[in-house]
Amino acid sequence: MPRTATTLAHDEVHWQGIARQFDIAPGPINLENGYFGRMTRTVAEAYQHNILWVNRSNSVHVRQRFEQTEALQIRRQLAELLDAPENAVALTRCASDALQSLIRNYNRLQPGDQVLLSDLEYDTVKSALRWLARHRGVDVIEIEHQHPASFDSLIDTYTQAFERYPRLKLMPLTYVTHRSGLVMPVQAIAAAAQAHGIDIILDGAHALGQIDFDLANLGIAFAGFNLHKWIGAPLSLGFLYIDPQRLSDIDPDMGEFHFPADDIRARTPYSTPNIPALMTLPQVFEEHRAMGGSVAKGARLNYLRETWTEAVRQIPGIEVLTPQDPRLCCAISALRFTRHQSQQGQVDRLLQDYNLFTVTRSGAGFGPCIRITPGLVTPLEHIQRLIEAVSKLAGQ
Ligand SMILES: Cc1ncc(COP(=O)(O)O)c(C=O)c1O
Repeated sequence: MPRTATTLAHDEVHWQGIARQFDIAPGPINLENGYFGRMTRTVAEAYQHNILWVNRSNSVHVRQRFEQTEALQIRRQLAELLDAPENAVALTRCASDALQSLIRNYNRLQPGDQVLLSDLEYDTVKSALRWLARHRGVDVIEIEHQHPASFDSLIDTYTQAFERYPRLKLMPLTYVTHRSGLVMPVQAIAAAAQAHGIDIILDGAHALGQIDFDLANLGIAFAGFNLHKWIGAPLSLGFLYIDPQRLSDIDPDMGEFHFPADDIRARTPYSTPNIPALMTLPQVFEEHRAMGGSVAKGARLNYLRETWTEAVRQIPGIEVLTPQDPRLCCAISALRFTRHQSQQGQVDRLLQDYNLFTVTRSGAGFGPCIRITPGLVTPLEHIQRLIEAVSKLAGQ
């Protein structure tokens, strides 16, 4: 009988087998897998092979074969991964490229309109919205989410803003927030936004590969992603998604002339892409599926995250920043040492005293925190070491 993703998530032997597919340098235990993901050894080898091949064949291969056939197949495979139509996706260099193009080229704003920004968005997205305000004469309304957040509080904060600011037209929404890992109730927020005539640009940077979602079902028309976090692709790949019915609401990007205006690829910032990385994508998708896709990866990562958050949540001097509601959680979570002034000081001690590599994050209303992100290669033993380290450091 096939085992469910939840049963498999607890199977250390199974995940040891997965971990053996990756090369890991000796050194600190990496609990900062949120920055970017590792490629498997076979993906890294395929990437190296593609670098050498493109370097040898140069533009002859790229102009004769890659642009004509391979690039089209890769895009088709990406659309299949998302279960979206092919004309709804276009590859970019990263999530930031995709999100900034959507923000800068959204053409439904009039001077005096309002755009909404919450404290939980990614800093680059915040800057892009402030840029809009300066260049397009719109006002940025800034809101702060309640902390600790709940499923209902996240929705209520938005609906209150929607009612209070009737000129709101556009807002970014981060699916998985990068500081504490909070997973937004996207579908409910999108429904409320739609009822108020507000468009959402979804920042899916951390969602792809660890959350199983369907953009049409979520009610999302515009979104930006990368492929180098939880999918395991080489660095420098991302894509944008536009519901084909809404393509005319995003102008072609500045400088773009390669594609007709009714082609989504005209919405991407033009550049010579990382062709060897793109050529590696079919193997990346195949291996992602072979590992059980987002369902299996998400279940394993959630198990690791839940193990440490539940063990340290009640320790005096520790605040876990994500709630217990499984709808709001993923791989990433964050904690704060409430009796210690400097979170960076605690990050340093985690590294020096326990060989655990973590990172601080700040910029949200809830203040500075320490982000903990297990990866696909993290064994339960490393999580136990984290629990022990946090328990000891909290009391010192
Ligand atoms: C929430 C969020 N959005 C956007 C980005 C930007 O992604 P990229 O590096 O692909 O531009 C990141 C990167 O970590 C992120 O965490």
